[in-house]
Amino acid sequence: MAELSVLSGRKFAKEVRRNLAEEIEKISGRPPGLAVVIVGDDPASRVYVSMKEKACGRVGIVSTAVNLDESVSQEELLQEINKLNENPTVDGILCQLPLPAHISADVVASAILPEKDVDGFHPVNVGRLWRGEDGLFPCTPVGIIALLEHHNIKIDGADAVIVGRSNIVGKPMAALLLRESATVSIAHSHTSDLQGLCRKADILIAAVGRPRFITREFVKPGATVIDVGINRTDDGLVGDVDFDNVAPICGAITPVPGGVGPLTIAFLLSNTVKSRTIGVVS
Ligand code: GUN
Repeated sequence: MAELSVLSGRKFAKEVRRNLAEEIEKISGRPPGLAVVIVGDDPASRVYVSMKEKACGRVGIVSTAVNLDESVSQEELLQEINKLNENPTVDGILCQLPLPAHISADVVASAILPEKDVDGFHPVNVGRLWRGEDGLFPCTPVGIIALLEHHNIKIDGADAVIVGRSNIVGKPMAALLLRESATVSIAHSHTSDLQGLCRKADILIAAVGRPRFITREFVKPGATVIDVGINRTDDGLVGDVDFDNVAPICGAITPVPGGVGPLTIAFLLSNTVKSRTIGVVS
């Protein structure tokens, strides 16, 4: 069998950021601006938001943090978003999830202008994605497609299986793979023969949120395995894939950490530059 390829998202993200920094240098007028809204003080969200802000600074994107108290009402949050929608120096708006139970993530997603929706969660961008039009699409799936293309992994005609049906990863991942002419299945907790389905996959994407759930019984020899999981366990950060168990039989695999995680942030920056430079008709 061909040698195993460990797909380093960290390395690729660095290259993406370098290219973005060059692109930003060439922009005439003001630099791109990203507003990051965070509600409450969930420690994991704080870490992610500070990583996003730091990444912005490194490529030349001006980031603005909007910190709101846990007790903020949905109406007040929508007013903040409206101010950012109207602010001409803000190209991208992101509201960090999860939100407190009294605020609807769907209502918030729909309140951000589609052309500033760098998460790609607005129904207009979801529609554009499924219709095969251009738009702003969720950062993690966009990054995964770019990583596969960067490593010349053939998507056209491949059998792709995604385990997980979230709006952030599973569903947009399916749409993007379909665009690239893969044959796509989305598996979830009600799938009858999960192992059997996964074993048919040339490209297997694990986004289930269960530590080391995917073992070699789920993997076709030579397959490409993409691990979207970030699970905090007593052993530290682990993915949805049991890396040591799966690596000996697959053709290519992303590690955790250093795989998909860095891509999400790199492609958030890329979406921000896209909304600054191209703009998307709303
Ligand atoms: N929380 C976890 N992942 C994400 C993401 O991609 N975007 C936002 N806004 N919040 C998240």
